[in-house]
Amino acid sequence: MTQILQNAKFITTANPRDTVAPVFRRTFAPAKDIAKAALTVTARGIYEARINGARVGNFYFAPGWTSYKNRVQVQTYDVTDMLGEDNNIDILLGWGWHFGTIQRGSLENICDPCIIAELNVTYADGTTESIPTDESWLYSKTPILYSDYYNGETYDANIVYGEWKPAVITDGKREALIAQEGEIVTHIEEVPAINYFITPKGERIIDFGQEVTGYVCFRTVGGIGERISIDHAEILDKDGNFYNENYRAAKSRVTYITDGNTENWYHPVFSFQGFRYIRLTEYPSAETYIGDFKAIVIHSDMKRTGWFSCSDPMVNRLYENVIWGQRGNFLDVPTDCPQRDERLGWTGDAEVFCRTAAYNFDVNKFFHKWLHDLALDQAENGAVPQIVPALWHPDGAFAWGDAATVCPWEIYRAYGDITILEEQFDSMQKWVDYVYNKGDGPAAWGGGGQYGDWLGLDAEEGSYRGATNDLLLGTAFLAYACDLLIKAGKALGKDMSFYEARRAEVGEAFVREFVGEDGMLTSDTQTAYVCALHFGLAPDVPKYAEYLANLVKNNGNKLKTGFIGTAFIMDALTDNGYADVAYSLLLQKEFPSWLYSVRKGATTIWEHWDGLKPDGSVWSRDMNSFNHYAYGAVASWMYGTICGIKPDEEKPGYENIKIAPIPDARLDWANAMLDTKYGTVISGWEKVDGGYEITVTIPAGATADITVGETTEHVGGGVYEYMLKA
Ligand code: BGC
Repeated sequence: MTQILQNAKFITTANPRDTVAPVFRRTFAPAKDIAKAALTVTARGIYEARINGARVGNFYFAPGWTSYKNRVQVQTYDVTDMLGEDNNIDILLGWGWHFGTIQRGSLENICDPCIIAELNVTYADGTTESIPTDESWLYSKTPILYSDYYNGETYDANIVYGEWKPAVITDGKREALIAQEGEIVTHIEEVPAINYFITPKGERIIDFGQEVTGYVCFRTVGGIGERISIDHAEILDKDGNFYNENYRAAKSRVTYITDGNTENWYHPVFSFQGFRYIRLTEYPSAETYIGDFKAIVIHSDMKRTGWFSCSDPMVNRLYENVIWGQRGNFLDVPTDCPQRDERLGWTGDAEVFCRTAAYNFDVNKFFHKWLHDLALDQAENGAVPQIVPALWHPDGAFAWGDAATVCPWEIYRAYGDITILEEQFDSMQKWVDYVYNKGDGPAAWGGGGQYGDWLGLDAEEGSYRGATNDLLLGTAFLAYACDLLIKAGKALGKDMSFYEARRAEVGEAFVREFVGEDGMLTSDTQTAYVCALHFGLAPDVPKYAEYLANLVKNNGNKLKTGFIGTAFIMDALTDNGYADVAYSLLLQKEFPSWLYSVRKGATTIWEHWDGLKPDGSVWSRDMNSFNHYAYGAVASWMYGTICGIKPDEEKPGYENIKIAPIPDARLDWANAMLDTKYGTVISGWEKVDGGYEITVTIPAGATADITVGETTEHVGGGVYEYMLKA
């Protein structure tokens, strides 16, 4: 790939840091008939290539987001059918992740925004011609007056390209160029506007009925020089007014200055937003037709693989919210949220959601790419940055840096693709060593730069961090990281006895440091017991499981957990005999619970259990996203426990499937379907007189261990029916 751009030079403008969204142009008149033509291109920034005004390819925000100082993806498009006799090859350059406000303090580390490209033509007579970016290219301003992910875009349709100046050669670091590795980001679907109304404050609002990530596309009504100015929001406040304070510094405003052509449709070129509602802050017409607005959904082009439904419509809506949460946040990298001034690859969020993500969609390629960036951004000493691609220096944090061990293992488990372990093993090992060495002996470190059980409801007033002791959590995660490293090493045929000894040492330290004389944990929280059970650290499993179940029951069948506890509480209860308590948590409708947000009209997963409080007021403007997928980790329990579909870790990727549905009388039926490389697995059940009728489909080529009640049978492909007595 580096070779293919060998003759091309990085080009930019005379004032690269001050020029907004320039276009670079080369005209080209082919000498002979063309047999084949390909455009290879990338940017430090984001680009859109156009030939004779038509968009090249369907990769939006190309070249995507990687650890830019180490690697920048390059794309090649077949443009044979786009070329005529006289051609304008245009490449527009936006800030994107490279140079926009998202980079904040790290600007000194990056090079000027620039592009590099090459048009390669093969003529019908077999001769070739190549047109690389060089001094012969020109640049001009464009109608895009301003464009930034956080702040939005301003577009003046009255401006046409003009005043062409010679491009300036710059150093964009050729050695960083690599072939496209991830999925492309593209337009996935259009969501129509469903409602138009005027708020009590008198503002004009359009509702798309669903929170999405992407942009609004609208018809450009209005006379010459008039303005359409749109603001975005996720919710209305308790009085029904437009509310976007939770976007914090991200202005998310899209402004279009019209040229009088009312038949055009416009959407931002280099900006995206997370939103359900838009406000027509400026609009040149007194009339509003909702048909003039649509929302375009944009995300990584992942194939949908999982489906779940059951007899409870609220649970189904929750499940749909998880799907929309993933769609809204898998935009080239797994992000925390799509709307406020973050939209970053927070490692902890990806770590807790990865298992669910891999049921819902095929994320094998997506995580391969992101984990390569994680390894590249990992410090020499093994510290994993809190966000990947990193924008500031890594200092590691338990449960966040653990993405280094958890995500490769989850991806291997789901797809059986050993390359992820081969490629990430060093990174996994470095993380384990880092945590072990940073801690005080085998008990992990807990101070500085930690997030704890982030947003746990047992946090002290005014704090984001749940009540569970950091050292306890850090040590539990170190044990978990050792376990995953050992499993990965064994899958790769390595001798893992050194880490087995270390894991034993950490397990003993956990008991020594965090189990009191009464045999119970010194941190009396749901999350502490969840971790002890789920990470195999509980000295007395039945006692701890009963205690955890009681902590939940005595709290009115409600959660107190944050990012960490929530991800694992359902499995910690179920795996130790308390699936009924897990069901109570799932079906809880009062605050705090998953279904509470559904009752409050959520269409995606909230960051906070009390994003919208029972009285309709908002939790805070600070940290209050309505599209944060972390708590959506519960969907893996819907697939894995309600319908009981799990991969066998010994034969991962669903070569052998573990089927063990656990029905509950509070639902009438449930059904899940999963596309695997062996075919489609289906597992479902229906409540009937005296019990449950279970039906399982195993694809030909796979095998399964089907457990119904106390009995397990090993089967091949086929359809199987069972009766489970209540
Ligand atoms: C992000 C989170 C992230 C956290 C770190 C927040 O601002 O939105 O999702 O994991 O910071 O604690």
